[in-house]
Amino acid sequence: MSEDKRHEEMKKIRDEVVAFKKSPLYKYRVSQKNLPVVGEGSHSAKIMFVGEAPGKNEALTGRPFCGQSGRVLDELLVSIDIERKDVYITNIVKDRPPENRDPLPEEIEAYAPFLVRQIEIIRPKIIAPLGRFSMRYILGKFGVDNGETIGKIHGKVFEAESTYGKVKIMPMYHPAASLYHPDTRKSLNSDFKKLKEVL
Ligand code: URA
Repeated sequence: MSEDKRHEEMKKIRDEVVAFKKSPLYKYRVSQKNLPVVGEGSHSAKIMFVGEAPGKNEALTGRPFCGQSGRVLDELLVSIDIERKDVYITNIVKDRPPENRDPLPEEIEAYAPFLVRQIEIIRPKIIAPLGRFSMRYILGKFGVDNGETIGKIHGKVFEAESTYGKVKIMPMYHPAASLYHPDTRKSLNSDFKKLKEVL
């Protein structure tokens, strides 16, 4: 797909998410003046990070990972000498759940088709789900879920087949989990090093 076509297709997704009034979270977008968060970064990225759902800062700005978790993600990217503009960062759920609660299964189901299309347009070599919700969805979607917890399989590489060829899936802890747990931060540091090697 040409670069122009990719931009055009990504713009379509943006427009559809903006107009997604049927979403179970749309009412909060309106009542809390939240912005939807579609994703940002390179449309030809080799690495795609998939978080859970926008938090407060993200819903204020419309940008993924721009609050405290974003600071951790930025530090991790710096640590492996990869620029944020060269990766693609998004979430499985594109609107903020109230009070930052966990996304519900029906919310994941409602937004997942946007994520699947983003993956098929960008065609990343590596997908790094951040946290258990996007991990479970993505491993399941690509038929490689072994049911293990994130504590067991973070940093492991799952080789999968996609509509565009081979893709590696490398689940990682959610950056927010590392804010209060130094061991999680250590795991993220080493998983990012591995990500760079696998690239
Ligand atoms: N947490 C997420 O999962 N995604 C964001 O964009 C920000 C915080």
